[in-house]
Amino acid sequence: MQHPSNIEHALILCYTVPTKEMNEYGLRASLGDDVYFDESTVAFEAHIAKIAGKEAGLFLPSGTMSNQVALRTHLQQPPHSVITDARAHIYRMEAGGAAFHSQANSIPIFPENGHHLTWEDIEPRIVSGTDVHVAPTRIIALENTLNGTIIPQEDVSEISKNARARNIIMHLDGARIWHVAIETRMSMKEICDPFDTVSLCFSKGLGAPIGTCLVGPKAFITKARWFRKLFGGGMRQTGYLVGCAAYALTHNFPLLPRVHALTRRMQRGLEDIGVGILSPAETCILFYDPSPIGVEYWEIVERAAALEKPINLNGSRIVMHIQTSSQAVEDFLDLVRTLKEEKAKAGWTPDQAPRKKQNPFRDVYVKAVKPN
Ligand SMILES: Cc1ncc(COP(=O)(O)O)c(C=O)c1O
Repeated sequence: MQHPSNIEHALILCYTVPTKEMNEYGLRASLGDDVYFDESTVAFEAHIAKIAGKEAGLFLPSGTMSNQVALRTHLQQPPHSVITDARAHIYRMEAGGAAFHSQANSIPIFPENGHHLTWEDIEPRIVSGTDVHVAPTRIIALENTLNGTIIPQEDVSEISKNARARNIIMHLDGARIWHVAIETRMSMKEICDPFDTVSLCFSKGLGAPIGTCLVGPKAFITKARWFRKLFGGGMRQTGYLVGCAAYALTHNFPLLPRVHALTRRMQRGLEDIGVGILSPAETCILFYDPSPIGVEYWEIVERAAALEKPINLNGSRIVMHIQTSSQAVEDFLDLVRTLKEEKAKAGWTPDQAPRKKQNPFRDVYVKAVKPN
């Protein structure tokens, strides 16, 4: 694939690619060895810590490593447990890392309101006391955005206030936190204040090739640096990577309102066609269900990949980003409309739509599977 030289170029719904401008900026950074504190990387870590209102920062290769290093640094003596949203990346998508790296029991909770965790969800699941059968809760790990949805800050504050009163650590998987800042207009510091540690990614919505910063207290980051090395994440010439991340923060962060508007446009378009929405477009992600128009995911995936300007999807999840053109959204909607018409011509009627149980805890991730 060629480097796009402007943000409207790519008709891709799944991932970003670095631009020429980003690469050129990245190449201006220092060339030091970051295991021994590269100059650009140290400056970047300090900058990210400052905007998040924390004492120190640590640059890591991935969001997964950042979350796992955070857990491992916080969790020093098992038995212990971590409370998460049952849909959270740290619980579902990190290969059981909390158990593997930190010997921690995970306590996954589905939010009662179907949207975000509240203190009412969490309180009854906290493990405490001296009963030897149980693993005391040491961390509450929230995720914001989660599936592209935003946790109301009042709920975050309420959870944090109660957690702190019980000496429970608050960690935030803020891989996509930039979207929260854009939508809520809160400062990064305000968003991060209820947490002891926060993981922030540059390689998702901001469009850098690689990189996550873990921020928190100075002593915590010093120890986390040790675990980063132990996990194999001590990197050498990271200057180029932080240069790209810095470029992304300066130039791509301001592009996010357009991305959110495009995602809302996608939702409206799908609803107009009669497609179901499993999780709404609050930022840059939405989950949809084509069964009300008689279409299956695999049909959309196949046909979208075969378009003149292909669109990559793999199921119910649609992720928009700074390189998604508005044309890609219209092409996708045209395709779904066409499929609906084809089904109707073939005799499909809405009463054939599968009857689905209304279950607020249902999984919104549905993989496209073509029947044999
Ligand atoms: C919320 C969240 N946390 C963590 C990660 C993991 O990031 P990485 O793929 O860089 O390991 C992702 C990846 O998409 C994510 O969406």
